[in-house]
Amino acid sequence: MTAASPSGRGGADRPRVTIPALAKMKAEGEPIVMVTAYDFPSAHVAEEAGVDVVLVGDTAAMVVLGYDATTPVGMDEMVTMAAAVRRGLRTPLLIGDLPFGSYERSNEHAIDNAQRFVREAGCDAVKLERGGPSVERARAIVSSGIPVMGHVGLTPQSATALGGFKTQGRTAESAVQIARDALALQAAGCFAIVVEAVPAAVTDALLPRIEVPVIGIGAGLGTDGQVLVFHDLLGITTGPHSPRFVKRYAEIHDRMVDGVRAYATEVRARRFPDADHVYSADPAEIDELKRHLDSESLASAPWDW
Ligand code: KIV
Repeated sequence: MTAASPSGRGGADRPRVTIPALAKMKAEGEPIVMVTAYDFPSAHVAEEAGVDVVLVGDTAAMVVLGYDATTPVGMDEMVTMAAAVRRGLRTPLLIGDLPFGSYERSNEHAIDNAQRFVREAGCDAVKLERGGPSVERARAIVSSGIPVMGHVGLTPQSATALGGFKTQGRTAESAVQIARDALALQAAGCFAIVVEAVPAAVTDALLPRIEVPVIGIGAGLGTDGQVLVFHDLLGITTGPHSPRFVKRYAEIHDRMVDGVRAYATEVRARRFPDADHVYSADPAEIDELKRHLDSESLASAPWDW
């Protein structure tokens, strides 16, 4: 984790990103770069690329575990993934995403699970979805000493209630609700808010009213930062149902298939392993081995090496 990113933001000497540092970036108009990660190698990539914030998102349910929604993933899986990400990360702020069912029941339950992210995985903060009842949970977690990021607009944990993975805030009424949710989360002490899948003009109308950093995903260019799912932006996920807001910066899935296909071809042709990939041994030792293997006492007499 020493290579500098092309933008110059990576590198071992870069200071750790803190919540005050994010507030300063917003104040100075410096865009905040956030990406998801779910394991040690993706954390390494985020570190070397010099991103500011890493989210261990419950999108893991879909892009890592293969479900068609975010709701099936639980706290144990999330904490395991977050701990792996922590081991690969030094500089970015690390946020654990509270999964469905981990914070709705009570403030105590929400605090317990937020503490698991901090204690067991070394997260710096947690994220939760929606306004409404989540506002009280956010306030409770913040009061317990753990920073909270809010998430409004399309909130995948409640996608069924929202009518599917659909753009939100297309009507004035629904846009006002998004504004109310964002402001309530801010008042509850959230240090930043994710706004997902809303028209850019709605975000732009909202932005001047929000003091904390707003991180957009499918929310236009006007936000204080952007977040994308690691597997989406790198083209690791496949399939026809990519949201409009996903821009693929690489086609890693195709590269991986090419690599495994080349390996399979060489194995089938007995070209792998070649001389560069095998261990050598002293021919005298091999002769000695063969003498032992030919001896009749092989099965009965244990050798004293
Ligand atoms: O779970 C997730 O990955 C997220 C981001 C898309 C913001 O919530």
